[in-house]
Amino acid sequence: MTTVATPIGALLTGAVSDATETLQSHLRRFGRPPADPWRTIASLERADLRGRGGAGFPAARKWRAVADHAAKGLPAVVIANGSEGEPCSSKDRLLLRIRPHLVLDGLRLAAEAVGATDTFVYVSHGDRDTLRVLRDAINERVQHLEGERRPTLVAAPPRYVGGQETAVIARLEGKLARPTYTPPFPFTQGAWGRPTLVHNVETLARIGLIARDLDSASLALVTVSGAVVVGGVTEVVVGTPLGAVVQAADGVIGTPLAVLAGGYFGRWLRAETCWNLGFGTDVPLGAGVLAVVDSEHCPIAETARIVTYLAGESAKQCGPCVNALPAIADALTALTSRRRALPRVELLQRRSQELVGRGACRHPDGAALLVQSLLSVFEPEVGLHVRNGPCGACGAPALLPIPSSRGGWR
Ligand SMILES: Cc1cc2nc3c(=O)[nH]c(=O)nc-3n(C[C@H](O)[C@H](O)[C@H](O)COP(=O)(O)O)c2cc1C
Ligand code: SF4
Ligand SMILES: [Zn+2]
Repeated sequence: MTTVATPIGALLTGAVSDATETLQSHLRRFGRPPADPWRTIASLERADLRGRGGAGFPAARKWRAVADHAAKGLPAVVIANGSEGEPCSSKDRLLLRIRPHLVLDGLRLAAEAVGATDTFVYVSHGDRDTLRVLRDAINERVQHLEGERRPTLVAAPPRYVGGQETAVIARLEGKLARPTYTPPFPFTQGAWGRPTLVHNVETLARIGLIARDLDSASLALVTVSGAVVVGGVTEVVVGTPLGAVVQAADGVIGTPLAVLAGGYFGRWLRAETCWNLGFGTDVPLGAGVLAVVDSEHCPIAETARIVTYLAGESAKQCGPCVNALPAIADALTALTSRRRALPRVELLQRRSQELVGRGACRHPDGAALLVQSLLSVFEPEVGLHVRNGPCGACGAPALLPIPSSRGGWR
């Protein structure tokens, strides 16, 4: 894929895909990160870096909160979240494989700034290559970098909710990787009751560059997929029009109908009206996913499969996930299948609004956002499905990936 980013502060500049940058070439390219953690916090504040794990929370605010609590009590813990449960995303895996040292620089800087004595990298358990790359990179650093503490690698189960931060903490503590109720929030009492900072690995890598005074906060990694010529990860300036991002994937195959922006907790857009919208400005980045759906596929059928998958991935501990999500998934599936009674759209709308904010984590909220965007953006098409049953494209094979594995929680 082509990259549409300016090279300064970009994570992928000069990277060779499928090749891991060694510590030596990493230091030759970027130099050593500065040793003053307070300067790093000030740089993050100036840069207004937002987290890249989905919610876009300001990084510096989390650092200050964790550092304040650590100063008053127990030493902090920092976790690099590389579990990447989002099926359409591959940016975190790519980054860990080709530039592990930038992520590990960010992790070290964060630990120094918040007063952490323990650091962890949480990576998908089936991803043996990434685990090997990280093991090697950590060994290189412990041997050659003064004062380097060895981060612990922890395997993430193949579950969508296993990457939610309280689930990550539970897994670190040796429990099942299921989200827990907040408060207490991780920044006050996280892993083993200690103040805990959880960051997505892209956020940490950007911190590695921002600490070296490179403008990285204005860039984002994006995984482009679906009906595109060459899918994959590209790096763009935040605010780049969606059309230009998709052009980096050499454009669309067929006639574009819909774009899913952000991932499975993201929102649907109508292709004909979305190409000029800025990604990360007009449309939230979410997990940095853009998936294009062409006219041979039906966004309602794609959403029905996604919501069925998300309902099956929940930790089944809270009402919205036990009752509402499966009911919404069934209702959407009914719209795309001739064999079932058609649901009432008002009910679908009401249920997807009622469940917001009712779970221990934001899993049901994310699914609800996706459904609400479908119902509003594709209102005429939903109406046609209600009146006439499934459309000609409903039976097409799934375009967007639905992982079949139902792993455990460890
Ligand atoms: C259901 C669910 C799944 C999540 N999965 C991931 C994930 O796979 N990777 C990730 O970095 N963040 C994930 N998050 C977000 C994390 O809870 C957390 O906000 C994030 O790791 C913080 O990093 P950031 O501040 O760098 O964005 C998920 C959140 C939810 C609600
Ligand atoms: S809201 Fe859903 S996914 Fe989150 S903890 Fe409750 S049951 Fe699990
Ligand atoms: Zn259809």
